[in-house]
Amino acid sequence: MGSEAREGEGVEVSSAHTYDFVIAANRLPVDRVVTTDGSVEWQRSPGGLVTAMESVMRGRDAAWVGWSGQADEAPEPFKDDNLLLVPVELSADEVTSYYEGQSNDSLWPIYHDVIVPATFRRSWAAAYEKVNRRFAQRVADVAAEGATVWIHDYQLQLVPRMLRVLRPDVRIGWFNHIPFPPVELFAQLPVRHSLLMGLLGADFLGFQRPADAENFLRACRRLLMAKTKGDVVEVPDSDRRVRAAAVPISIDAADLAALAESEPVKARAAEIREQLGNPRTILLGVDRLDYTKGIRHRLKAFDELLRDGRLDPTDTMLVQVASPSRERVDAYRELRHQVERTVGNINGAYSPIGSTAVTYMHRSFPREEMAALYRAADVMLVTPLRDGMNLVAKEYVTCHDGPGALVLSEFTGAAGELKQAFRCNPHDIEALKNTILTAIDTPADERSRRMRALRKQVAKNDVQAWATKYLDALRLAPEKPTA
Ligand code: ADP
Ligand code: G6P
Repeated sequence: MGSEAREGEGVEVSSAHTYDFVIAANRLPVDRVVTTDGSVEWQRSPGGLVTAMESVMRGRDAAWVGWSGQADEAPEPFKDDNLLLVPVELSADEVTSYYEGQSNDSLWPIYHDVIVPATFRRSWAAAYEKVNRRFAQRVADVAAEGATVWIHDYQLQLVPRMLRVLRPDVRIGWFNHIPFPPVELFAQLPVRHSLLMGLLGADFLGFQRPADAENFLRACRRLLMAKTKGDVVEVPDSDRRVRAAAVPISIDAADLAALAESEPVKARAAEIREQLGNPRTILLGVDRLDYTKGIRHRLKAFDELLRDGRLDPTDTMLVQVASPSRERVDAYRELRHQVERTVGNINGAYSPIGSTAVTYMHRSFPREEMAALYRAADVMLVTPLRDGMNLVAKEYVTCHDGPGALVLSEFTGAAGELKQAFRCNPHDIEALKNTILTAIDTPADERSRRMRALRKQVAKNDVQAWATKYLDALRLAPEKPTA
C-alpha cells in the first residue's frame, strides 16, 4: 500500500458497495500530498496506528474510513488492492479545531499525563462532535447489514454511540492506541461525560495495558455512577453491557524480520556504519517529534555523559531520527526548537573534526532504510515519558539479530511485555545515564541472549495475533473469549 494508490481508481460508494468489515481512523493509511509540480501523490501516513493497521488490513475485502491529511479535499473513495479507502473531508477550520485543537491540544495532553498543559475550548469540542458525526455517517453508509466496525483512537471517541443510533445492526469495537488517563486527570475534561457515553456505544473497548482498561472502568464508576463487574460496564439507563480489556498491539514481525534479513538491507546497514565512520557504539533514537517521547531527556543524558567524559565522542555517536509531527500546535513547535538547539549545542561542544556527536534527521524514511538503521544501531534508546505502546521498540528487536540492546522507558506500553530490555525512568537523568552505560558495556553474549528473548516475544505476539484476539473479543463481547 502507498504510492500506488491513485485518485483515478475512484469507485462510486452506493448501497451496492457495502462491506462486512469497516474500520475508521482519523487518518487513511495514505496521505494525499501535492508535490511542487502540482501532481498528487499518496504517501504512507505517519504513526504507529497506520504501521499496525496497514498490516492487518492489507489485501482484505474491507473499507477504511479516514481523513486524507489535507484540508478541504474530499477525493472520491478509491480501491487500494482489495481495500476501499473512503476519504472524510475536513475543512481548514476543522483541521485547526477538531484535529490540532480538541484531539491534539486537549485530549492528547490529558491522555499523556499532562506533560504539557491541556487547552480547553468550547468551539473545539463542538467541532470534534461535528466531525465525529461525519465519520459515523460515512461508516454507516459503507457498512453492510450486521457488519463488524472497528473504530480507532482518541480522535473518534464519540463515533461508537453515534453509529449505534444510526446502525443498531452492526457490531462495534473501539481500540485506544494511546494510554487512557487516571480518572483524576480525565475528570478535568469538560467533555468527560460525552466521551464516556460515546465510548459505551461500542460492544468492546480495547486498551493497550490493563491499567488503561482499569482507568476507564474507574472513570465510568466515578463519573457516570455506572456499575462494573470485572471488566464489564453496565451502561447507564440501558440494558446494554460493554467489556473493556487490554489487548496490547504489535507489529508484523515476520514481514519486518524478512525485510531486515534481506541482502540489500544488510548491505545498507553496513554502509550506514561505514558512513558514520565505523564508531565503536551507535546509539539510535527514532520518534515522531512529540514531547511524549522523552527526546529532551535522552539528549540531556547523552550531553552529560560526554561532558563527564564517561562517553568518548570519537567512538560513540547518537543518531536521532525525528519525524515531523503536528507542526502547527505550539507545544510541538516549541519542542522542535528546543531539540534542534540542544543538538546544535552538543555538536558545537563535542563533535570531533569530520564527524558529529549527534546525527539529527528531521524527516521520514522508507521502511528499508528504517530496518537498516535498526540493524546498524548497537543501542536503541526508547525513553518516552508516556506512550501507549511504542512500536519502534518492537521494530528494533525484530530487525537487529546481533548483540544489540534496548533501553526502554517503564512508561511505555511495550515495557509490560519486553522484560529483557534495559529498563529506565527517563525523569531520573542520573539513572538514565547509568542505564545507557550498562547497555553499552554489557558483554556481547548477554546482549545477544536478551535480544533473542525479546525477538521471540514480539514474533509470538505479533500484529496478526493481536487482531485475532481483538476481533474474537469483539465477536463474543461482552463475554470473555475462552482461549
Ligand atoms: P507513534 O505511534 O506515537 O508515532 P510508535 O513507536 O508506536 O509511535 O510508532 C511509530 C511508527 O512510525 C513506527 O512504525 C516507526 O517505524 C515509524 N516511524 C517513526 N519515525 C519515522 C521516520 N522518520 N520515517 C519513517 N517511519 C518512521
Ligand atoms: C499516534 C496516534 C495516531 C496518530 C499518529 C500520528 O500513533 O495514536 O492516532 O495517527 O500518532 O499522528 P498524527 O496526528 O500525525 O495523525
